[in-house]
Amino acid sequence: MKTAEPLQPDPLGEWERTHGCGSLRAENIGTEAVLMGWVNSRRDLGNLIFVDLRDREGITQIVFDPKLSESSIEKARSLRNEWVVAVKGKVAPRLEGQENPNLPTGAIELRVTELRILNRADTPPFQVDGSVDASETLRLKYRYLELRRKRVFENFRLRHRLASCIRRYLDKKGFIDVETPFLTKSTPEGARDYLVPSRVNKGLFYALPQSPQLFKQLLMISGFDRYYQIVKCFRDEDLRADRQPEFTQVDIEMAFTNEDGVIRTVEGIMAELFHEVMGRDITLPLPRLEYKDALERFGTDKPDTRFSMEIVDITDIVRDSDFKVFRQAAQGGGAIKAIKVKKRASEFSRKSLDELSGVVISEGAKGLVFAKVKDSGWQSSIDKFLDAQQKESINKRLNAGSGDLLLMVADQAFVVSKALGALRLEIARRLNLLKPDDYALVWVTKFPLLEYNEEEGRMEAVHHPFTAPLDEDLPILTTHPERVRAKSYDLVLNGAEIAGGSVRIHNLSMQERMFQLLGISPEEAQQKFGFFLEALRYGAPPHAGIAIGFDRLVAILAGVESIREVIAFPKTASATCPLTDAPSRVSQRQLEELGLCLAPQKT
Ligand code: AMO
Repeated sequence: MKTAEPLQPDPLGEWERTHGCGSLRAENIGTEAVLMGWVNSRRDLGNLIFVDLRDREGITQIVFDPKLSESSIEKARSLRNEWVVAVKGKVAPRLEGQENPNLPTGAIELRVTELRILNRADTPPFQVDGSVDASETLRLKYRYLELRRKRVFENFRLRHRLASCIRRYLDKKGFIDVETPFLTKSTPEGARDYLVPSRVNKGLFYALPQSPQLFKQLLMISGFDRYYQIVKCFRDEDLRADRQPEFTQVDIEMAFTNEDGVIRTVEGIMAELFHEVMGRDITLPLPRLEYKDALERFGTDKPDTRFSMEIVDITDIVRDSDFKVFRQAAQGGGAIKAIKVKKRASEFSRKSLDELSGVVISEGAKGLVFAKVKDSGWQSSIDKFLDAQQKESINKRLNAGSGDLLLMVADQAFVVSKALGALRLEIARRLNLLKPDDYALVWVTKFPLLEYNEEEGRMEAVHHPFTAPLDEDLPILTTHPERVRAKSYDLVLNGAEIAGGSVRIHNLSMQERMFQLLGISPEEAQQKFGFFLEALRYGAPPHAGIAIGFDRLVAILAGVESIREVIAFPKTASATCPLTDAPSRVSQRQLEELGLCLAPQKT
């Protein structure tokens, strides 16, 4: 057994910090300061030792000089990166030529009169402040070290500021923050549930909420009127850069209002946080696009509207052309559509056009037709198949002129939209049109109420089963349920869905009808949602709501690629936590207590 080190009194003593490591400036020269932080780096010049001392606010250069303190420089020789120290000293100007204009504290240094070593540190598995980076698994295993990086920490400060701004705004508008249960029954939002076995009621399970959907609706029935919660949701689904198994929503519900009431509230939040936190003003009301127009014009229900390059239908112009691919697509009930890349045709080589064909092919289209518009006419493989009139009409419809590039796809309409939607984005990426500090917000409304799930062979709710159908589509609810639109809305920021909500069904018979359309039998509805159906009998007010995907919003505003960067302790793409090693095995005894027995695992 290792002999224990003698116990030392706490080296901090009575000292208190006077400043953070990012705050001393030229105007502090001559004053005494106490700083505490981590050794970011140390340079030993023999007669002088320079240490960059770091905390969450920044870095200050501290200098050990035997002329100021013989004992401190001796102690300073032992310092290593990531040791925790406190120093007292005098703020002095840096020597001429030694100033660092890239550092806010770069005009000064702290000349140390006393050093206290607060804690030692093992050599970290990767350089905390290094330029060479470690693998994501290693960084997540030692996430607390990665979080020491200022750049990473700033994402969390931004997250905090956004959350407080939202809280303040909603508070001002009369919303109250109510917590809802985590140990609950399934709330369907289209993912699998995380289940928690009950020890007290063996064989029974709680489900972690995919969202607080039914509870917030119950609170409307309770007369709470305006609810919000910044809350964790749990979804067992395939993970991507913008998806985590547990993520945070700003969840909102309002009684006695409709779509416009909710949209106005969220627009108010957005305007406030862009103004207060991002220091810019957005114009309200935000643009609204109906789902079908979003698909038609942008090829997606999450259009990135930072740039236009809209999709234009040219089926009528080319349906009788000599180009077989176009003719056949049109005759088969499909469509031919095009996008225009303005004035930059010359930037697309044969090779890059081939790569763009790859993009549409991977989206299910058969190929891509292109035309470079020149003063002399089209340069295109289909030039000879279209007559002058047809080319002229296409140019006119797309408002195309010399120097423009036209890209066309022919197929079933949904394939064409999807392919050109992806192509539009790819081109924008290549042409550097997606500026991270440009923000384009747009509402997408009137999604279909239902969609057919091939795997399960039945209709399912596009948003969730508690979403109300559009009044004008009620007459076709039974005859053509697939055509019915919903009172639903998503907010899209730079091509990412950052919020989704709907007006709810508040009438029992409509809710029962909805379950029927979804192929849920009255018995199943009773078993899964009986409590909610019952609540609808006791005076449910009209109500509507929305949930903002908070991690996504923060990630976009922080300018980072993945929501993992704005979650303190995120999971990997395979839903594991390298830091805690979760999920992990449990003891036989725990399983027995829960009345569980594991099936043999295939290895
Ligand atoms: P929805 O399922 O659309 O609606 O979720 C709302 C928003 O949450 C974000 N989001 C996610 N973020 C990270 N990881 C995930 N796995 C994930 N899943 C969703 C998205 C999405 O827009 N109860 C309804 C809201 C309502 O109707 O009021 C709901 O949860 O940004």
